[in-house]
Amino acid sequence: MDGNGRWATLQGKSRIEGHRRGKTSVRVIVEMSRKLRIPYLTLFAFSTENWLRPHDEVYALMGLLETYLIAEQPKMMRYGIRLQAVGDRDRLPANVRRTLEDVIELTRDNNRMTVVLALSYSGRDEVVRMANKIARKIGDGELQPGDIDEEIVSNHMDTPDVPDPDLLIRTSGEMRISNFYLWQIAYSELYVTPTLWPDFREREYHQALMEFQRRRRRFGRTDEQASEPARLNAGSGGSES
Ligand code: IPE
Ligand code: MG
Repeated sequence: MDGNGRWATLQGKSRIEGHRRGKTSVRVIVEMSRKLRIPYLTLFAFSTENWLRPHDEVYALMGLLETYLIAEQPKMMRYGIRLQAVGDRDRLPANVRRTLEDVIELTRDNNRMTVVLALSYSGRDEVVRMANKIARKIGDGELQPGDIDEEIVSNHMDTPDVPDPDLLIRTSGEMRISNFYLWQIAYSELYVTPTLWPDFREREYHQALMEFQRRRRRFGRTDEQASEPARLNAGSGGSES
């Protein structure tokens, strides 16, 4: 979710106004995903590197996150949305962390949709934490070095029960991954739009999904082998279009 600051500058507003409007985009995109029965949605909300921003901006973002979690909690329960988080939670302010953990706990048995918030997250940081978890198990004799395969690695990432994303959308036109999921996006379709996140709403999301449907996913095989058009592989889906 990129471009909140640029949106604000273009409007002659403070960066925080941009984040506030970006929060409305989050609400719209979660709601639309739910209606389309997209089973998993990950939102990259705050990176490890974002801690380096001015204190006021970090503080405002943490406040927006907390009010978002509190305000959306009833809707998550009503619609069966399970909340998960990836990232280094220990760095979050205590109140935000508590609220986050409360909502994760409250929604843990919901099973219609999973929303993953990437908070204080970076892809490399997650890889390092995964390596440490595996190393500890080897140290304890729970795992042998020769046991390590792709499945073991996947199972030691932050959300072992969330499938790899089919589609990665990046707003604001930057052609880079910026330390988001690294391991998980090996075969994700990439979609970059110049639209700034605060302007990314129904129409833009719909366009991205339509573009995704036109992609041919070969997963390394030939065109003939992969004659099926792109499909969401994550769940039973059943989206309308
Ligand atoms: C994305 O918008 C939101 C967060 C990182 C929290 P930015 O704040 O990065 O917006 P730009 O890149 O300055 O436009
Ligand atoms: Mg940015």
